[in-house]
Amino acid sequence: MITGHDEKEIALKAINLGAYDYYQKPIEIDELKTIVRRALYIQQLELENEFLSRQLQSEKQFEEIIGDSPEMHAVFDVMRRVSSTDVPVLIYGESGTGKELVARAIHFQSSRKDQPFVPINCGAIPENLLESELFGHEKGSFTGAYVQKKGKFELANQGTAFLDEIGELSPALQVKLLRFLQEKEIERVGGKEPVKVDVRILAATNKNLEKEIETENFRSDLYYRLSVISIALPPLRERGDDILLLANRFLYKYAKEYDKQKLTFDALATRKMQDYEWHGNVRELENRIRRAVIMSNNRLITCEDLGLKDDIPTKQASLSQAIDDAQRRYVKIALQQAKGNISRASRELGISRVKVYELVEKYKIVVDRYK
Ligand SMILES: Nc1ncnc2c1ncn2[C@@H]1O[C@H](COP(=O)(O)OP(=O)(O)OP(=O)(O)O)[C@@H](O)[C@H]1O
Ligand SMILES: [Mg+2]
Repeated sequence: MITGHDEKEIALKAINLGAYDYYQKPIEIDELKTIVRRALYIQQLELENEFLSRQLQSEKQFEEIIGDSPEMHAVFDVMRRVSSTDVPVLIYGESGTGKELVARAIHFQSSRKDQPFVPINCGAIPENLLESELFGHEKGSFTGAYVQKKGKFELANQGTAFLDEIGELSPALQVKLLRFLQEKEIERVGGKEPVKVDVRILAATNKNLEKEIETENFRSDLYYRLSVISIALPPLRERGDDILLLANRFLYKYAKEYDKQKLTFDALATRKMQDYEWHGNVRELENRIRRAVIMSNNRLITCEDLGLKDDIPTKQASLSQAIDDAQRRYVKIALQQAKGNISRASRELGISRVKVYELVEKYKIVVDRYK
């Protein structure tokens, strides 16, 4: 707050209203710079503090999975329920949404946590090798099988097997997997005796398996076995403030790693991250921030550093467009902060509830009613 008055009362009022400092004219640029620098420093500390305490809170539940949005709380809820059981869980989600992270977390919260967690990527292993990968083989069972080899299911005995990209499994292997799930025993390729194994199965896919069933690419009996419980991981763009929560966590992590500790996002970058589609989801966000930290030689990370186009305030946009854009954003943010409570948002925005409803309608804003 800069003013020509020198009354203490005004100073106090300004500070009560949230001003960091009170500065009297005439302006000394150097002095002002110092004040602004300190204010920024304090703000940074506050943000870091808030972020760390949030992180602590979420880490108490599921280590490493960052998220405070209602969508992610719903996921944590299901995870908590299934962790203590042995039921198969099918995890859905676009690429990079954290399917493997969730599978690991379920395993490490379960009673099997001291036993192996064995991930198997069904899409990455050539079809002719996958059977022996999963079930093992006996010595001499095929050309190249010089020694007996244990399969992944045997290695996962007592623990958890995570079948990633389950939608890629061939029809023949789908049958074998189904048999394994029913009998709880495996037969090594070229083996004569079935071997009992006790494995919990978690599976993941980014395909719509119900569609795959319709087109007869996936067996429905296997699907029902696997999806006793399913978890749908929301795409990052639908996680509201989690985008910034994650962004700050990654910034913190990489700034430390690359020894550039005073970095923050500039306002436009912050906004752009919230509006961006993130088709590569959390993985894309993490990679872009990592790159930005390496590339940035400034204290502020910009859209350019992140490789995001800073095309928001274009000069060509008409004033009414700009107003619409700002209105939509403000209403959206107010509603998020008010956790979907229209009255609270209307007070925050200084407009009537009717007007809020009107704007929600006009901009087709999705109102999340938080718990
Ligand atoms: N909620 C989250 N909090 C922190 N890190 C996350 C979160 N979700 C994902 N990640 C990170 O993003 C990356 C991608 O996650 P993961 O490999 O689990 O995704 P995926 O859904 O299995 O992706 P794909 O379909 O491409 O295999 C990992 O580095 C993971 O640690
Ligand atoms: Mg994965």
